[in-house]
Amino acid sequence: MISAATLSDLSVLELAEPRPRAPVRREAASARPASESGESPLLRIRGVTLEYRTPARVVRATHRIDLDIHEADRFVLLGPSGCGKSTLLKAAAGFIAPVEGEITLAGVPVRGPGPDRIVVFQEFDQLPPWKTVAQNVAFPLRAARSLGRREAQERARHYIDKVGLTPFADSYPHQLSGGMKQRVAIARALAMQPKVLLMDEPFAALDALTRRRMQEELLALWDEARFTLLFVTHSIEEALVVGNRVALLSPHPGRVRAEINSHEFDLGSIGSRAFQAAVQRLHTRLFETDPETRAPTRTTAS
Ligand SMILES: Nc1ncnc2c1ncn2[C@@H]1O[C@H](COP(=O)(O)OP(=O)(O)OP(=O)(O)O)[C@@H](O)[C@H]1O
Ligand SMILES: [Mg+2]
Repeated sequence: MISAATLSDLSVLELAEPRPRAPVRREAASARPASESGESPLLRIRGVTLEYRTPARVVRATHRIDLDIHEADRFVLLGPSGCGKSTLLKAAAGFIAPVEGEITLAGVPVRGPGPDRIVVFQEFDQLPPWKTVAQNVAFPLRAARSLGRREAQERARHYIDKVGLTPFADSYPHQLSGGMKQRVAIARALAMQPKVLLMDEPFAALDALTRRRMQEELLALWDEARFTLLFVTHSIEEALVVGNRVALLSPHPGRVRAEINSHEFDLGSIGSRAFQAAVQRLHTRLFETDPETRAPTRTTAS
C-alpha cells in the first residue's frame, strides 16, 4: 500500500524532473556540467525499441526508451532482472541495432562498436589470461592504432597506477583477485579515453566490502578524469551512490518509468536519513504494480 505522503514524494521523481543545476559532486569551480550551459546531450537515446529475434519467437527487451546522457554524467540504469538494462547498454555500445528509434553519440548515429564506447562487464574473465596486466591495458591502445608502443606503455602505466595496481603490472590475471581483475578492466577501458564508459553491473560479483571500495575508486577516478559513465545496476543503493542521475526501468519489456537526480548522495551518505528515505522511495517505485503489465516489479535494495 502506498501512502499519500509517499505518493506526493514520488511525484517529485517523475519523468519530467529537471536536471539539477549542479548534477555532479565535489564539482571543481571551473568544471561546469554541459547541461547547465544548455549543450545537447552526448549520448541521446530516442524512442529505442530493442528486440531479440529467434526462429521461434521475438523477445522485446526495451520499448521506446528516451534518455539524454550529458557529458560527465554518471548515468545509472536501474531496474529489475530482465528489464533490458544490458540490452540497452549493448545497443549504446553498437552491438545491437534498434528496431525502432535511434541512438546518437555527439550527434552521430551509432551504427556499430567503436573505441569511443568501451564496455566493462560483470564477469572477471574479460582479460586474455596470457597477457600481463600491463599488456592487457596497453594492447587495445596498440590494436586501435591510436598510439605507438612507447606511448601505449606509458598510458597503460598511468591508468594502472590510477587503479592502484602498479605492484601487479607484470602479474597475469590468474594471479589476481576478482576485484583486482575488475580494476584492470576499468584501467583498460579508461586508458582508451572513450567518450562514454559503459559498465554492466561491474561490481555485482564482488563481496560487499570490495564492492564499496570499488565504488569509491570509481568515483575518485571520475573526480579526476570526468568521463561520461553509463552504469547498469539492480542495486538501489549502488545507483544512488554511483549516479548523479538515475533512470528507473519497468519490468520486461523495459520502459523508462521515472528519472531522478541523485547527485547529493555519495558513499558518506549511506545510513543518513535522507539516503534511507531515497532508497525507500525508489524501492516503493520499483516494487509497485506496473500499470502496463499489472505485475509487481522485482529488484534488490542493497
Ligand atoms: N540473446 C538473447 N536472445 C533472446 N532473448 C534475450 C537475449 N538476451 C536477453 N534476452 C531477453 O531480453 C530481455 C532483457 O534481457 P537483459 O539481459 O537486457 O536484461 P537485464 O535487465 O540486463 O537483466 P539482468 O538484471 O538479469 O542482467 C530478457 O527477457 C531476456 O530474456
Ligand atoms: Mg543484465
